[in-house]
Amino acid sequence: MKKELTISAIKDGTVIDHIPSDATFKVAKILDLAGVKGIISVATNLSSKTMGKKGIIKVSDKSLTKDEVDKIALIAPNATVNIIKDYDVKQKIKVEIPQIINRIIKCSNPNCITNNEEISTKFYVLRKEPLRVRCHYCER
Ligand code: CTP
Ligand code: ZN
Repeated sequence: MKKELTISAIKDGTVIDHIPSDATFKVAKILDLAGVKGIISVATNLSSKTMGKKGIIKVSDKSLTKDEVDKIALIAPNATVNIIKDYDVKQKIKVEIPQIINRIIKCSNPNCITNNEEISTKFYVLRKEPLRVRCHYCER
């Protein structure tokens, strides 16, 4: 007999699925969850047919910004973002590392203008796996 309870379905909000189990809390950390009024569920070490173990994050009454989705791609490149409306999966987004990464990451060059002035970072993605980027400002 199946005795465990699975994590509940949500009515409206966002479900981030197929997170590598050990990246789950990192993904939770990049989301702006502090002000969310709805229920937030985080589960790790769930068994998955395709991934072995996976993590999942369900956030009621929140939609993600493009920035948040792009950040997820950098940590969990195979994650799926499901947008839930009235219990139905209205949209399923396969996260993707963008060609250009704005803000999210810092330049590794201490002399780069982005580390010394109020200028947000911008990188060109040279290769996605493993991730290689070039700074728009200092070209490192
Ligand atoms: N989900 C949820 N609440 C809902 C609907 C879906 O929490 N009202 C969750 C499901 O538990 C699942 C994810 O959202 O983790 C995606 O739902 P669905 O597309 O129905 O599941 P799968 O077909 O297994 O998705 P995939 O093909 O992406 O593996
Ligand atoms: Zn730079």
